[in-house]
Amino acid sequence: MRWHLITDADRLAALPGAPIALLLALLPPCDPGASAISVRYRIYEQGHYGSRAVCGSPDSPSEHLDRLTIVAEGKIGPCRLNFKVKIVTMPKNKLQKYERVQHLPNVTFSVFDKSPPPSSYPWYEERYESMEKVLELGCGKGEHSLAFAASNPHQFYVGIDCKSHRLCVGAEKAIADGLENVHFLRARIERIREFFVKYSIQEIWLTFPDPHPKKRAIKCRLSASPFLDAYANLLMPGGTVHLKTDSDLLYHYTCESVDRWGGRVVAASDNIHGNDSGSFSARGVVSAYEVAARSQGASIKYIAFTLN
Ligand SMILES: C[S@@+](CC[C@H](N)C(=O)[O-])C[C@H]1O[C@@H](n2cnc3c(N)ncnc32)[C@H](O)[C@@H]1O
Repeated sequence: MRWHLITDADRLAALPGAPIALLLALLPPCDPGASAISVRYRIYEQGHYGSRAVCGSPDSPSEHLDRLTIVAEGKIGPCRLNFKVKIVTMPKNKLQKYERVQHLPNVTFSVFDKSPPPSSYPWYEERYESMEKVLELGCGKGEHSLAFAASNPHQFYVGIDCKSHRLCVGAEKAIADGLENVHFLRARIERIREFFVKYSIQEIWLTFPDPHPKKRAIKCRLSASPFLDAYANLLMPGGTVHLKTDSDLLYHYTCESVDRWGGRVVAASDNIHGNDSGSFSARGVVSAYEVAARSQGASIKYIAFTLN
């Protein structure tokens, strides 16, 4: 993705909660090829400082921009809002994926603040009732979900990611391969409880999640305790969470976090492709991300744990 800084409306005073459209109207005319808008802002108020990047995209510009307005209205009082806006020009093939993915029957889009009841999602349709449900969180192009779905026709896989152009690749491949036991959901993992019925999931796969190495981002790690709370809420008794990672930090953190939470690590390896490694199903699928990590010398680590 190429980012073009069109304007830097520095130190522009604006009231919090001002409609984002009004702020954007202050910008010079956009490049007609522009497809997304990113707003970065900093807020200063009585010593409080915060900053956040928001990216509107053909996926859901209003979702992100609304959220920016909500943050400005809800959490802070009158303040000065400094912002920079970038107009993003995306490669054509990425734009085409954004367009195509909207029409794929095996992709569902989360709706900001308006989730229907979990039982109304496609993975709970009657025809899938007897199938075990497996989730892949941060699935990217869904390589693990696709491979597992092909070899386990009695399980139903849901791959979840916030990037719909990546889901497009997996969803189109599922259709081309005639895989009916896999579906994709564009959503943020933080909202996962909104899409699945309590205790209805057999397995959850975390495939190469971001390790979030900075201290202030520990809460974003997918094995931090609020996420473990959510997984425990979704997993059936005896259900398992699997983590594959190339990050030593995330590997050790996850072992400690599960232990602190009161869960149980049932399998662990710091190099699943090593000679003396056990036979893990995690070894059988190698995503493009994994290939790249290994080519840079990283070993692939795996943990399986239970929470109930
Ligand atoms: C490093 S990639 C791994 C992709 C894939 N699992 C693989 O093995 O190749 C991490 C993925 O997690 C997704 N992701 C990161 N944070 C997320 C979040 N909070 N909600 C949904 N998806 C997220 C990213 O969009 C990205 O596709």
